[in-house]
Amino acid sequence: MFAQGITSKLQACGACHGVDGNSKIVGTPSLAGQPKTFLENQMIMIREGLRNIPPEMKGLLDGFSDATIVEIAQFYAGQTAQSQAGIRNQILYVQGEYISKEALCGTCHLPTYVGRDQMPRIAGQREEYLLHTMRQFRSNKATGRDTIMVASLYGMNEDDLKAIAHYLSQLK
Ligand code: HEC
Ligand code: HEC
Repeated sequence: MFAQGITSKLQACGACHGVDGNSKIVGTPSLAGQPKTFLENQMIMIREGLRNIPPEMKGLLDGFSDATIVEIAQFYAGQTAQSQAGIRNQILYVQGEYISKEALCGTCHLPTYVGRDQMPRIAGQREEYLLHTMRQFRSNKATGRDTIMVASLYGMNEDDLKAIAHYLSQLK
């Protein structure tokens, strides 16, 4: 399906992000079903050391050509995203749904939150990763990431972010 060249690379990524891009590891985002452009952009930011990532991913994209990055992005964009969420908390879910609508998150991430172009899929993403990233955006610690999200989360408190993360993680 994909060139021989990226097979071994995908094996390395799969150890954390899941073989099919659906991550079973706390703190590690799923990549399955992400828009190709979003994946390409993030991999380039990571390769260039512009996006801050945990030590375990540092250097992993060193020396990857742009063509390799495009192939990897294509692979994960073509995988089916599967929510890794646990049991639904109905109160949090409804709260999260309401806040996400009020905050117009769907104008960029699409009303079904599957993302497009440079805007990531947030539907079915791991709950603790969503919360972690939103906290980073809110506290201006999301180094190398699009500052548009800082404005989107402006004025939200910890409970709002928890509700949003729970809601989005439950979506298919
Ligand atoms: C040791 C575990 C590990 C390995 C191996 C790993 N990653 Fe990651 N990756 C992570 C973690 C953890 C994050 C989340 C970083 C953060 O907190 O912002 C991440 C983030 C990403 C992101 C950004 C996703 C998003 O939704 O913002 C991309 C793209 C990515 N990795 C691609 C890859 C690719 C391609 C490989 C293989 C060449 C790879 N990773 C290997 C742990 C890993
Ligand atoms: C004006 C467009 C826009 C709006 C509105 C918006 N976002 Fe985003 N969002 C983006 C873009 C662009 C990115 C990619 C940021 C980057 O380059 O790292 C992003 C990234 C994210 C991420 C990181 C996902 C990942 O895999 O790393 C989360 C979570 C997120 N948005 C949630 C939300 C929520 C929740 C709302 C509503 C409160 C929202 N967004 C509103 C454009 C938007």
